[in-house]
Order: sequence, then C-alpha cells, then structure tokens
Amino acid sequence: MSRYAVFGNPIEHSRSPQIHQAFAQQKNQSIDYQRILAPLDGFADAVTQFFSQGGQGANVTLPFKEQAFALCDSLTERAQQAGACNTLWKKDGALIGDNTDGAGLVTDIRHNHGWQLQNKRILILGAGGAVRGVLGPLLAQSPSEITIANRTVEKAEQLAEIFHGQGIPVYGSGLNNIRGTFDVIINAISAGLSGDMPPLPSTLLAADCACYDMIYSQDGSTPFLNWAELNRAAATSDGLGMLIEQAAEAFLIWHGWRPDGTAVVATLRSQR
Ligand code: ATR
Repeated sequence: MSRYAVFGNPIEHSRSPQIHQAFAQQKNQSIDYQRILAPLDGFADAVTQFFSQGGQGANVTLPFKEQAFALCDSLTERAQQAGACNTLWKKDGALIGDNTDGAGLVTDIRHNHGWQLQNKRILILGAGGAVRGVLGPLLAQSPSEITIANRTVEKAEQLAEIFHGQGIPVYGSGLNNIRGTFDVIINAISAGLSGDMPPLPSTLLAADCACYDMIYSQDGSTPFLNWAELNRAAATSDGLGMLIEQAAEAFLIWHGWRPDGTAVVATLRSQR
C-alpha cells in the first residue's frame, strides 16, 4: 500500500489523515497516511528516513515548513515565492517541494464560495509565514491591490517589498492606520484562534465585502468572523475549505487525480 504522512510538532490535532483518506475513498483507492511527530531538532532526519523506507509523499505543517523548503533538491515556483513547503515527494531520487496553501485558499474562495478576486481590493491581516504562502497565488488572480496590515509594521512592509514587482500595488501597513476600504478581507493573525481580534474600524468593509479567516473552527465561527458579521460583511467563511483544498492539491500532485474538496468540507464539519 502506498505510504504518505504529515510531519509536524505538535501533530496530534492534524486532520490531514482524515482528509486524504476521504479523497482516497472517492477514488476507491487504499492509502496509508500517518501523522508523524518529528522532534523539533530532527525534522530532516525524520523526512529522510520516511522516504528511504518507501514513503511516497509528505505534507509538512508547523513549525517545519521553512525547514522543508531548505531540505528540498528542487522547488516549484510557488514554493520559491512562499519561502516554505507543505508538500514533498521524490522524483528520480530528488526531493521536490511545493506549497499548495495559496492554491487551496484561492480554490476555496473562487470555486467553493464563488467570490471574485479579479479587480478587487484585498486586505490581509497578519504578515507571518501563512501570509507569505498565499500572496503569490492571490496576486495571480489579478486583484486591483493588496494591503498587508500587521502589528509589526516592518514585517508587512518587507512582504510588500518582496511581492510588489508583479504589476499590482502591494502595500504594507500597521493595524491601526490601514488606509482604504476593501472588497475582500483575509485574516491570518494567529491570535484570532483563541483570543480577541485587535480593534479594527468598520470603515474597512466596502459594500459587499467578503471576509475570510484562514483559521478554522469546528462550527465555522471565529473572533474575526464574529467581528465581520457585526460589521455587516456580505459573506464570511472560516478556513476549513482552504485546509481541504490545499490537501486536494497535494493529492493531485501525488496521485494525478483531483478529488472533490467540497464533499469533504461537509464530512469534516460533522466529525470531531
Ligand atoms: P503563521 O505561520 O500562522 O503566519 P506566524 O508567522 O507566527 O504564524 O505569524 C503570526 C501572525 O499573527 C503575525 O502576523 C503576528 O503579528 P506580529 O508579526 O506583529 O507578531 C500576528 N499576531 C499574533 N498575535 C497577535 C496579536 N495578539 N495581535 C495582533 N497580531 C498578532
């Protein structure tokens, strides 16, 4: 049976095995997909051992995505832009790395929710690794501008600098001086998982503004989405669909077949 795994630390919370098993079922295929807890100082050894023992594909989650990037012999263009890898496989003995997070976000927004990104003003809250991973695929959708707003303004400015040369304005800002109104607001501030969102003005939302939280919760509500609804966002979504669609993209790479992510969103919502 073909072997796959997700590496992380911690890893017990990962839903990747459930997602990949659901995809394999759609294809009437049997796969072995395990969670592997790599020691914080032992990621490279764990991955090397996995592939030398016949592993065919690996996903990588926190905190190892940058280490995975450094370990690869060859990188896709979107992995290079992201500076991090979440999907690994071997080809002719070489370790190849991709980053499917941005594609997962865009597929969920465009295909599953039907929100437009072309010619839209996008605001991204946060400037960590998660944001760097999605900026390339978001820019490929031809928005009219992207503003990155972050508590540490220098990090937002650095990302804006890296991504601004693609013909679309990319601005960096602090959280308390964001300029403009936006058609799509995407949250990637990790504090949104458990704590409160930083205070943000309701004037950020244009009419018909859609708000997406890259963080997900079992019932689909998050502090950011509560804020969005309070401020009359036209549409909201948490990031469960992104999680599933980034996995679908990895499944496509490994198996040459694209599973139906939408069906799996409903399954995962109903399972704990
Ligand atoms: P990830 O991989 O999820 O992006 P990260 O690289 O640690 O994780 O980034 C976390 C993001 O959440 C950062 O943008 C961080 O802001 P700083 O760059 O200023 O640290 C943001 N963040 C975390 N806690 C926050 C809080 N309490 N208020 C505002 N922003 C916060």
